[in-house]
Amino acid sequence: MAKEIFIGEIVSNEEIQKEFFLMKVKLDLSFDDPQPGQFIMIRIAGLNDPFLSRPISIYSFSRGKNYCTIELLYRVAGKGTRVLAGLIKSSQVEINGPLGGSFEIKADKKQIIFIAGGIGIAPLSLLAKQLYRSGCSSKESMSFYLGAKTADAIVGLDKLQKLCYNINVRTDDGSFGRKGLVTEAFQKDMKKYSATDTMIYACGPKAMVKALSKILTGTKFHCQASLEERMACGTGACVGCAVGIKDNKGNLTYKRVCADGPVFDIRQIVWE
Ligand SMILES: Cc1cc2nc3c(=O)[nH]c(=O)nc-3n(C[C@H](O)[C@H](O)[C@H](O)COP(=O)(O)OP(=O)(O)OC[C@H]3O[C@@H](n4cnc5c(N)ncnc54)[C@H](O)[C@@H]3O)c2cc1C
Ligand code: FES
Repeated sequence: MAKEIFIGEIVSNEEIQKEFFLMKVKLDLSFDDPQPGQFIMIRIAGLNDPFLSRPISIYSFSRGKNYCTIELLYRVAGKGTRVLAGLIKSSQVEINGPLGGSFEIKADKKQIIFIAGGIGIAPLSLLAKQLYRSGCSSKESMSFYLGAKTADAIVGLDKLQKLCYNINVRTDDGSFGRKGLVTEAFQKDMKKYSATDTMIYACGPKAMVKALSKILTGTKFHCQASLEERMACGTGACVGCAVGIKDNKGNLTYKRVCADGPVFDIRQIVWE
C-alpha cells in the first residue's frame, strides 16, 4: 500500500567499513513506528537518475520529542546505493514507509536463532533489540549465526554482542570467524536446539535462504525468512517482485515480496 512520502534530512552517512555505510535520517513525527522486518523505499529528493527508489531495511529507530530518527545499514551494490553513499549531512531524501510486513514474535518459543547472510544482519538486529528490550527474550536465549564472504563484509557485530550471548561467524575464506557457510554452522549445532521450543529468523541472499530451507526439511523447526527481491515500486503496484508461495493447502500462488512479504514462512517459499 502506498504511504505518505516523507522528506528526510540526513544527520550522518558514515562509511563504517569499505563499501558499507550507516545512514542516520531525521523524519517527521508522523512516521509510524517500524516493526522489525519492515523496510523503506529511499531515493534522493528531486533526482531522476536513478529514478526508482531502493528498498532498505530499518536497522534502528528512535522517536524524540520533535522528530524520529531511523538508521539504515547498507552496502554499495550498484548505482542507487552508490548515489546514497555520496550524500552528505543535511541532504534530503524521499522516504516511503515503513513498508511490508514484519517478523512474527512467538512468545512461547524459549530459544531464538537468527541466521543472517551479509547485510541481512540489518533487519535481524532490530528484531533482536526489540525482543531483548521488551523482555520477550534474554541475551542467553538468543543465538546469532552470521555469514559473509570476507571479514570486510562483516558489519554491525558490536551492536549484536550487546544483545546475543552466542554469536557464530562464518566467512567464505576464513578471514573472520570460522571458514565455511553460515547455514552449515547452524546445521552442525541443530541437534542442540529443541525444534518445538525454537524460533528461527533468517535474512540473506536467496542461496542462503534456499540452503536453510533444505536443511529444515523434515524437521519441526519454525522459521520465518525475509527475502531480498529486486523491487521497482515497493508498494504492491507493479507485481515485479512476485515469488512463488504455497498456500495453506499446498497450492502454488504468487505473492509480492514488498506488499505480502518481505517475511514469509520458509516452508511456503517455492524455489525454482
Ligand atoms: C526488503 C529489502 C530490504 C533490503 N534491505 C537492505 C539493507 O538493509 N541494506 C542493504 O544494503 N541492502 C538491502 N536490500 C538490498 C538493496 O535494496 C539492493 O542492494 C539495492 O536495491 C541495489 O540497488 P543499486 O541501484 O545500488 O544496485 P543495482 O544497480 O540495482 O544492482 C546491483 C547489483 O545488486 C543486485 N541487486 C539489486 N537489487 C537487489 C536486491 N533487492 N536483492 C539482492 N540483490 C539485488 C543486482 O542484481 C545487481 O547484481 C534490501 C532489499 C530488500 C528487497
Ligand atoms: S516492487 Fe512493485 S509490486 Fe513489489
